[in-house]
Amino acid sequence: MATDVHGPVTPGKAASAEPLSASPVKDGLRDPAIDPIRDPYGAVVRVEELTRSFGGRAVIDFLDLEIQPGEFVALLGRSGCGKSTLLKILAGLDRDIAGTVLVPRRKAVAFQAPRLMPWKKVWRNVLLGLPGKPDRAAAERALEEVGLAHRADAWPKTLSGGEAQRASLARALVREPDLLLLDEPFGALDALTRIKAQRLVDELWQRRGCAVLLVTHDVEEAVLLADRVLVMDEGAIAYETRIDLPRPRDITDPRFAEIRGQLLERLGVDAPASAA
Ligand SMILES: Nc1ncnc2c1ncn2[C@@H]1O[C@H](COP(=O)(O)OP(=O)(O)OP(=O)(O)O)[C@@H](O)[C@H]1O
Ligand SMILES: [Mg+2]
Repeated sequence: MATDVHGPVTPGKAASAEPLSASPVKDGLRDPAIDPIRDPYGAVVRVEELTRSFGGRAVIDFLDLEIQPGEFVALLGRSGCGKSTLLKILAGLDRDIAGTVLVPRRKAVAFQAPRLMPWKKVWRNVLLGLPGKPDRAAAERALEEVGLAHRADAWPKTLSGGEAQRASLARALVREPDLLLLDEPFGALDALTRIKAQRLVDELWQRRGCAVLLVTHDVEEAVLLADRVLVMDEGAIAYETRIDLPRPRDITDPRFAEIRGQLLERLGVDAPASAA
């Protein structure tokens, strides 16, 4: 499938500090290193008419999406609707697309499975794939941020599930991303560890100020963390709602329950009576 990369080329009034680059870059269509482009409206992510097909079936079908710098966006949708496919495209890991995708050069992704290399110590895992010759101190700073500095010399197999997930987050943070892509990062954690991990991501986001796109199946998690929640269906963003509740969010707030109920309804799940 041909990749069509085209986009606005003039600086915007509120353009982000980092130049936006067109991604994917295919067949030399656009090299962001020599041809940086900026979004005229200051968005950190701009997706227009994105299409991705597998075997002739369009999993993503003319999808439009915009994310502002520093915005926390959660993405919900039934299993198999294309959430991970979208994330991989934004991460630059899947380039067989049609449409326009503008993403910042500095982006990082963390998946549900921490994907640590078992033969490398934790600190080396954190630096894995970074360009240049990053030193151990960079890994230690990122591990410190996720409360894992004391496990820098551990082997991945000796980490608990929550620790491994934090190592994976450190690996994302060390890249100093303008866009942090999280694909169900808490999915495999037990309830208590999950709450701690959610709080950690909230703190990191507030401290770092990067934009976040979080894929989750957990409606409550989405309302707890996000500025805006999207529901994906039929290959596009079928519904979105802005969460204007003050932070930190209170799940006992009736408005919280109301938003959660609306989202569950959009997902085709009946909300419990107490949440209606
Ligand atoms: N490499 C691939 N080859 C063929 N089909 C694929 C490929 N990757 C994804 N798909 C298909 O695309 C659809 C969307 O997959 P995707 O992983 O994006 O769903 P998802 O919304 O993340 O689901 P889940 O919530 O279960 O993680 C699925 O039907 C899947 O089988
Ligand atoms: Mg998925």
